[in-house]
Amino acid sequence: MMNKKLGAKILGTGAYFPKKILTNSDLEKVIETSDEWISSRTGIKERRLSEKNEYTSDLAYKASLEALKAANITPEEIDLILVATITPDMFFPSTACFLQKKLNLRSIPVFDLSAACSGFIYGIATARAFIESGLYEKILLIGADELSKITDWTDRNTCVLFGDGAGAMILTASEEDNNILSTYIGADGSYSDLLFIPAGGTANPANIDTVNEKLHTIKMKGRDVFKAAVPKMALAAQKAIELSGQKIENIRLFIPHQANIRIIEAVAKKIGVSMDRVFINIHKTGNISSATTITALDEAIKTGKIQKGDLVELVAFGGGFTWGATVIRI
Ligand code: UT7
Repeated sequence: MMNKKLGAKILGTGAYFPKKILTNSDLEKVIETSDEWISSRTGIKERRLSEKNEYTSDLAYKASLEALKAANITPEEIDLILVATITPDMFFPSTACFLQKKLNLRSIPVFDLSAACSGFIYGIATARAFIESGLYEKILLIGADELSKITDWTDRNTCVLFGDGAGAMILTASEEDNNILSTYIGADGSYSDLLFIPAGGTANPANIDTVNEKLHTIKMKGRDVFKAAVPKMALAAQKAIELSGQKIENIRLFIPHQANIRIIEAVAKKIGVSMDRVFINIHKTGNISSATTITALDEAIKTGKIQKGDLVELVAFGGGFTWGATVIRI
């Protein structure tokens, strides 16, 4: 007898933010900026910053514990860990290895995934493929980033935008339930010089000059990124809905990557969705790269904005460029 098709069921989600809050008025004291400029141009009011000795794997660990609790399973039941991040604790071992150690797990495969702000969507696409193929059964998927550690705090064009945080999701193979209705991911590496960290890799290894020239921090041509983000996010949102076989009017809540409120509003307009169906938490978090969509989803679930059975779409865009979207039934 043929086995039934396996679906990816979401067992639980979790999130963790560092305690320290940096407000726009705090930033006014160290760089030439204003709460008015930051709020009106980006929608951001404050962001969370990790401590010096609080690493990406620490945030990932705390978010994982929350997700394990929500899923009501023990860490030992997990058979694969995926961590989407562009701010690993170290070049290697992977942050997934550090997280595995913190969870006291041995032997299971773990790895990091690099797709910048689209990392969590790429992670869902990857986890779903592993589950549907029958290769792994219970996957711990994390989006964790500490952008504050790769930010040039003297560059007002970028430093007002970013923050730190982590979100986690546990997915399991199921013959009865399938929560991930579709995933759509894309990339275009020809835009790699619009949003990047120039040094520290093999192209430009760390040396005294790269440090003095601040080449280990995020460089971004903001206006060009903005222009590309809107059509690509709109395209991804539409493609994922098409692939899910659903209609846009059936999506209860859109959870877009929170990089700029103006990008979010432009995407919503482009796909014909009113802002009351769009989740916004950028004012509290800033842009936390791969942690953004999963922490927002977790908040939407925990605050009752979405209920069991609702259709939700996550949409992201980031450095690379990379983009992606997924339609989920909660
Ligand atoms: O996660 C995905 C990746 N990131 C993004 O999606 C970000 C995409 N880009 C953006 O969100 C926006 O382009 C920014 C928020 C980065 C900038 O907004 P903008 O409306 O595109 O501003 P701009 O870069 O065109 O700069 C406008 C002015 C400039 O002054 P001049 O040249 O017109 O005199 C900047 O120097 O605003 C100035 N400016 C600031 N002023 C006060 C730039 N940053 C600041 C600041 N405070 N923090």
